[in-house]
Amino acid sequence: MIERQLWHPVIAGIHLRDAPQSVSLLGQDVVLWREHGHEGPHGVVHAWADRCPHRGAKLSLGRVLTHLHGARLECPYHGWQFAGDGAASQGHHGAPVSVGRCVHVPAAPAFEPPAAHCAQVFEAQERHGLVWVRLERPDLSQLPASLAQPPAFEPWDDPLWRQVVCGPYAVETSAPRLVENFLDLSHFGFVHEGWLGARSHAQVDTGRVDEDADGVHARECKAWQPRGYAGAEEGGWVAYRYEVPHPFAAILRKDAAEGDPVSNAIALFIRPDGPEACTAWFAMATLGDLSDDEELRAFQDAVFAQDKPIVESQQPRRLPIGKDGAIPEVHGPADRMSSAYRRYLARTGVSLGVC
Ligand code: FES
Ligand code: CO
Repeated sequence: MIERQLWHPVIAGIHLRDAPQSVSLLGQDVVLWREHGHEGPHGVVHAWADRCPHRGAKLSLGRVLTHLHGARLECPYHGWQFAGDGAASQGHHGAPVSVGRCVHVPAAPAFEPPAAHCAQVFEAQERHGLVWVRLERPDLSQLPASLAQPPAFEPWDDPLWRQVVCGPYAVETSAPRLVENFLDLSHFGFVHEGWLGARSHAQVDTGRVDEDADGVHARECKAWQPRGYAGAEEGGWVAYRYEVPHPFAAILRKDAAEGDPVSNAIALFIRPDGPEACTAWFAMATLGDLSDDEELRAFQDAVFAQDKPIVESQQPRRLPIGKDGAIPEVHGPADRMSSAYRRYLARTGVSLGVC
């Protein structure tokens, strides 16, 4: 499954503090925990299979121990301790041990656990306010080079812009259905009437849609909005750029224009929990928007609450791109981004969440 070789967001960095957390990623239970005081102010993050190699208890029910030689994760069942960062954690003879290795068995303190006494360790890193995890090392002959790292999102690192993470939003559908919803301008006048659109102005302009190995790129996509930007008094046409840089991510950008002082960039990042369930975040970056962080979050929460019952009602939950004899869906002229996205999924060889 190619998706196991991709980086996926699993939790907002601010929601991973002292206690270990459990998430489902591609059907794999993962325990996330943070090792404080190591590699910068926020500490390094760990993502391991949420299963103790001793008797299979969930490690996420355990706790993080701060130890003289580096942090450890303690299993809730028999208290076995598993090493955090290898550089600091030490085995019995003071030698460094690899991350995930059992370094202490309380019922037999003199026992030196062999290498097989080890949690299953995945790669993890923090980007764009989220923790990202990859379950398998990629076969780079199969994967576009752009997918060897989490998707780029430059406005997140621009000190002139303001950054806010919204979510998590748990949704009972596949990740691809949610990406398509994000790319879809023609639902604004119906699902978000009075917020992002109006039925009386339902026409959209899909602009120019390009696609290549790295994804889908669309520009000059226009929709009429009742309030063209935060603080606007009246409606008007708004032009967006879209990008799909990853099978389960999409980025929208609106640049400041004449009479409109606000630039926005919103990245939809999705954790595919399983084939028909996912969890989403919006990483938002804005320049010139005067509303505060809580107002931005409240707006995004309200808009997403309008989308959620609709996307959860879509059948099938998996996106029918023509695998497994799925009944195809029909398309209208406003669906060009969606069609390009479906071709990208097929090219990438994604199998989760499609049929
Ligand atoms: Fe984890 Fe026994 S099951 S220590
Ligand atoms: Co919507």
